[in-house]
Amino acid sequence: MITHPPGLHAFTLVAALLPSLSASHAAAQSHIDLSKLPPPANQPGLAYASDIKPIFDTSCVRCHGAEKPKAGLRLDNLADALKGAGKTRVILPGNSAQSPLVHSIAHLGPEDHFMPPPGNKAGIPRLTAEQIGLVRAWIDQGAK
Ligand code: HEC
Repeated sequence: MITHPPGLHAFTLVAALLPSLSASHAAAQSHIDLSKLPPPANQPGLAYASDIKPIFDTSCVRCHGAEKPKAGLRLDNLADALKGAGKTRVILPGNSAQSPLVHSIAHLGPEDHFMPPPGNKAGIPRLTAEQIGLVRAWIDQGAK
């Protein structure tokens, strides 16, 4: 005489917990979701020498200094940083969102371009969102 109700509410619960599928964002560069970039810092007057070089010195120059720079890219001085890697400019002054260096440090796009390379032997950790925001704002301000 005792009837068991079907497991209706369990089913409803599972259905409610299913993640909704969001449409992928169309980014300018198709494989890069620019919405995932940390926002530029809200700090005026940023300069390579005072604000950016310390970050690059700590996290990049071991591999992008004067001696055998990886990908031919030196980040230990402003002129060479702006020249880029071989023929490829990696900093586009005024446009941090499209700058390949920003995609690399934000770990967006192809994994072999993530910088510093994950698991590097030197044990250099990735930049914080705050540091990426500073680099972005500096580039947006003209990379001076
Ligand atoms: C442990 C070594 C190492 C460190 C540290 C490092 N890089 Fe690199 N970087 C490389 C290598 C190796 C390449 C070449 C990768 C390739 O061509 O696939 C490279 C290439 C690049 C390139 C060229 C395009 C690309 O993404 O491949 C950029 C831009 C770059 N690095 C930026 C940085 C920045 C900015 C930092 C510091 C936040 C940094 N790298 C730290 C090893 C390093």
